[in-house]
Amino acid sequence: MADWWDADGRRHRKQFKNSAAAREHEHRETALAHAERASREMKLAARTSGAKRSAPKSDSGTIDSAKGKLGVMIPGMGAVATTFVAGVEAIRKGLAKPIGSLTQMGTIRLGKRTDGRSPKVKEFVPLAGLDDLVFTGWDIFEDNMYEAASNAGVLDYRLLEQLKPFLSSITPRPAVFDHKYVKKIDGPNVKKGKNKMQLAEQLRDDIRQFKKTSGATRLITMWCGSTESYIEPTEAHQSLKAFEKALRENDEMIAPSMIYSYASLMEGVPFANGAPNLTVDLPVMLELSRKNEAPICGKDFKTGQTLMKTVLAPAFKARLLGLSGWYSTNILGNRDGEVLDDPGSFKTKEESKLGVLEHILQPGLYPELYGNMFHKVRINYYPPRGDNKEGWDNIDIFGWLGYPMQIKVDFLCRDSILAAPIVLDLVLLMDLAQRSSELKGLGIQEWLSFFFKSPMTVPGLYPEHDLFIQLMKLKNTLRHLKGEELITHLGLEYYD
Ligand SMILES: NC(=O)c1ccc[n+]([C@@H]2O[C@H](COP(=O)([O-])OP(=O)(O)OC[C@H]3O[C@@H](n4cnc5c(N)ncnc54)[C@H](O)[C@@H]3O)[C@@H](O)[C@H]2O)c1
Repeated sequence: MADWWDADGRRHRKQFKNSAAAREHEHRETALAHAERASREMKLAARTSGAKRSAPKSDSGTIDSAKGKLGVMIPGMGAVATTFVAGVEAIRKGLAKPIGSLTQMGTIRLGKRTDGRSPKVKEFVPLAGLDDLVFTGWDIFEDNMYEAASNAGVLDYRLLEQLKPFLSSITPRPAVFDHKYVKKIDGPNVKKGKNKMQLAEQLRDDIRQFKKTSGATRLITMWCGSTESYIEPTEAHQSLKAFEKALRENDEMIAPSMIYSYASLMEGVPFANGAPNLTVDLPVMLELSRKNEAPICGKDFKTGQTLMKTVLAPAFKARLLGLSGWYSTNILGNRDGEVLDDPGSFKTKEESKLGVLEHILQPGLYPELYGNMFHKVRINYYPPRGDNKEGWDNIDIFGWLGYPMQIKVDFLCRDSILAAPIVLDLVLLMDLAQRSSELKGLGIQEWLSFFFKSPMTVPGLYPEHDLFIQLMKLKNTLRHLKGEELITHLGLEYYD
């Protein structure tokens, strides 16, 4: 048995006669993959260079208007959800600014660097306005959003007092929950049903009722619930037929978050997943998403330590600096930290955090630089810190002639303050995706990878983790939707 790496840097395990056979296999696979990739890229280049100058509108389809209210439904009304909703209300009241939000503060360059066209993202594509957002949610605790935000202890009480009437008016609907999947918490506000299909029906009723009472013309479900125990996909997740049978039979491989995603997609409502759970990252959900034109994306908000990792690792690779080890540890004391103290939930998070380096550094392509790296991630529950997490990274790199160097990163961050603007951007961009004739039937919205630690892709496609590639992908998607020239950064035309 030996490991080999493919051209995309993914590790595989296979039986070989000896190590020479393993090496030969790796070289052959790498050459094949490069040839295939080159041919794909040439085809793509031919297509995009044709579209470059005139970019006919029919290529990028149409986008329906954002008129009317947008209903935001949030399973999990904890620290992230309340920081997001309170933040939107504070911004609407002119009490604060939407710092960290790409849709609200970001700009997008159009045309040449000399054209001077850089509108705000929200002015370039038709997005729902903050005044049009209405909210509901589900939680296992009965606290309204004001009480939940006070308990989370993220926002200053003086700000919360100013938002109290609004936040108190949002009370959680009873949740679909099973303590087996989140071992560290339990609560009273939970739905009852004979089987999981009945629970899904109750969620679908909630969704229909919210749409009616809120007057929303469109809806989005945004999972901000706890991280569930690690689950691997099984037969039950492979098709709609198998999944529905499993729902009726109470299959234990169906976690509560999957019941929410099934209910949303059945109602034609897009679903974004902020936790590392599988939830929508399953063949059945892709099938349902495409069938009902309800976009999906995930998973696990990219906020603190992984954000830093996906900025630093591409820099090492760009400069061909080697990496021998990366040790990441965190202390945090919020409820999320407590949930992650359970080994089952931690394993789900660990899987999501570990994939990043192998995909960015591609040890198969650079064995001398990254073939032997040691990557470790730890999360420690430490109550005194609350939501103010501290993430430490010790990075052992090596340079010219193999000389070792070290980098230490100590990020004293605020978890939910980093996550809230991501939630806002995802809500607005997922709504855009569903209004775009080109995007709504695609299922996975890979162009939103920018916001996730463990971006979803179609089977067989490796995810892009590099933050700046992700940003370019996102902005080029917006340019494409509006029939604008894609930006390649070639730039030779300035020197003609
Ligand atoms: N804050 C960040 O920076 C960050 C980054 C990446 C991912 N996340 C993920 O986002 C999620 C939310 O984080 P948080 O800090 O708000 O956690 P939190 O513990 O404050 O809130 C989660 C809420 O979900 C509720 N819940 C759990 N299971 C539920 C269910 N089945 N239905 C309805 N409600 C349910 C809990 O009662 C709790 O109120 C977690 O999964 C976390 O791992 C957060």
